[in-house]
Amino acid sequence: MRTNILDIQKLKDRGERIPMVTAYDYTSAQMADRAGIPMILVGDSLGMVVLGYDSTVHVTLDDMIHHIKAVVRGSRQALVIGDLPFLTYTTVDQAIQSAGRIMQECGAQAVKLEGGAEVAPIVRRLVNLGIPVMGHIGFTPQSVHQIGTRVQGKTSSGAARLIDDALALEEAGAFGIVLELVPGALAREITAHLRIPTIGIGAGVHCSGQVQVWHDMLGLYSDFKPRHAKRYASLVETVEAALQMYATEVREGTFPGAEHSARMDEAELQAALSQSKAGQA
Ligand code: KIV
Repeated sequence: MRTNILDIQKLKDRGERIPMVTAYDYTSAQMADRAGIPMILVGDSLGMVVLGYDSTVHVTLDDMIHHIKAVVRGSRQALVIGDLPFLTYTTVDQAIQSAGRIMQECGAQAVKLEGGAEVAPIVRRLVNLGIPVMGHIGFTPQSVHQIGTRVQGKTSSGAARLIDDALALEEAGAFGIVLELVPGALAREITAHLRIPTIGIGAGVHCSGQVQVWHDMLGLYSDFKPRHAKRYASLVETVEAALQMYATEVREGTFPGAEHSARMDEAELQAALSQSKAGQA
């Protein structure tokens, strides 16, 4: 049975911290599922770590649909959340169309969108239509050209705005909120004032859960390492070493071995040669 948003709320209510990870394809979704991660986010971070863009701004709804479908196919247990990319939820009607595609075409169980009180009417409408919505405040990568990549909410006015944004999203019906690049003490207060879970990334340990980007936490992305990312593996080195060994073995003729090849009866082969044009020349 797939995890749903009620299960996620139960984890929060029981005081169990909630792990979430991004994934962008079938095999990584299988791995996240087998590891028992209850929520997989198909984040528009795929723009950088999978598609090689310099920000999430370039990611289209079709890009997201392609990857969300694969993640849904690869997972059985996890709640799959599809990110709504830049400029795909500028009005309530557009948000319904975009979120509708993510739910209907891909089979995701929820969507995520960036923004605070200003997107609350959109969240409310989607939720009323039966679409679970996760909010995302603090550093919102789709606004990188406006806000840079700074920690958000360090001043009293900025912090107050984030608290009010979180309350507005909860009031609109969001089932959870990502807090990205927010001081730990502020994330703690936001979490304490909400009924729904907060999921932190660069927001300290007092959130209800944490999210990490697949490529960052597995050491698969070498362009840069965000401070908030912890490397639980160094797969770039592992993969490059494997690729070098493969290339060497191909060049030396030691791969493939007999165990990687199909056998054929020698008499059959000789008969084939004589029946073919090669044997008649
Ligand atoms: O796109 C993404 O991966 C995200 C997470 C960083 C929360 O939004």
